[in-house]
Amino acid sequence: MAALDKVFTARGSPNIALIKYWGKRDEKLVLPWNSSLSITLADDVVNTTTSIVFSKKLTEDRLFIDGKREDLKNKDIEERLWIIEKMRNDADVDAGFLVASKNNFPASSGMASSASGIATLVTAANAALGSGLSKKELSMIARQGSGSACRSIFGGIVEWHVGSRKDGSDSYAEQMFDEKYWPEIIDIIAITSSEKKKVPSRAGMRQTVETNPLFQSRAASAEKRVEKAIIAYKERDFGALAELIMADSNEMHALMMGTRPSIRYLNSASYEIMEAIEELNREAGENIAAYTFDAGPNAHIITQEEFKDEILWALKEMKGKIMETRVAGQGSGPSLLRGDSLIDLARMAPK
Ligand code: DP6
Repeated sequence: MAALDKVFTARGSPNIALIKYWGKRDEKLVLPWNSSLSITLADDVVNTTTSIVFSKKLTEDRLFIDGKREDLKNKDIEERLWIIEKMRNDADVDAGFLVASKNNFPASSGMASSASGIATLVTAANAALGSGLSKKELSMIARQGSGSACRSIFGGIVEWHVGSRKDGSDSYAEQMFDEKYWPEIIDIIAITSSEKKKVPSRAGMRQTVETNPLFQSRAASAEKRVEKAIIAYKERDFGALAELIMADSNEMHALMMGTRPSIRYLNSASYEIMEAIEELNREAGENIAAYTFDAGPNAHIITQEEFKDEILWALKEMKGKIMETRVAGQGSGPSLLRGDSLIDLARMAPK
């Protein structure tokens, strides 16, 4: 049963892809060309909190991100938010919604597109509407809002299965290892720019699929890497895992570059970080860290706790190039909060 006029709040965190998703075989259902693998980050370091209320008093749906009202007619928002309308229809609820969402990290392209934004939104909506959906089902709804969001429904190491069915019913996220399996694995985030993304992922992927014939062969190699990375993780073989992570990031960025018009997300600091990590690995005589970049210039350095200080030291040496570093462990996925509502019910407005 839906609970009208009651605020539901969820907190969750972004994930960083070790083996990446880049390109859709179905744009509406958000079906990828290859499986992908990610780490859900700990929500004490990077998090999104999302509150939702459904009420008959709301004559129109409203969305606030970081305190700012968003236009639901905006294409980028519309393409993602329809999943809440679908959940509301499926639950047979006739009421408006008010959503307020807040991030504790810089929003890259209007956080409606962030994995943690969508993952917390569907988690809170599931509770408010009394839909009773499983995490697997929620991952398939989140996927249609933003592909990478399906992985943020679970904690630890998560695979998004590529699936083969046309209706998307076998393209869902699944936890492969929980956050306690190899807890020493951490992500050092090095912020090299706070600028807005030049090309949103959605448009960039479309451009790649349309203009770069190499994308098919990348999808095939990424698929194999997912399998290999799961084996490396199972065996806690960091050396092998690091090779796969760096190779996949480099291959995706090469693919982007070969797209017409060329898409380049990395900046000079990103390249310097890549070189610094390769140097550290050479000096150590083994891989102690792996860099990876999503659709932006900020580095994610995957390593083990014991090498944290060494890596932070190397980053400090790059004076002025890195704006901020954050160290994130692995998280357990979105959870519903009892307090911490972002909505003032009396005013039907964000707090
Ligand atoms: C480079 O999930 O943001 O981060 O499905 O269009 O919303 P949409 O794209 P999105 O793309 C993420 C791309 C990536 C790689 C990854 O996270 O796997």
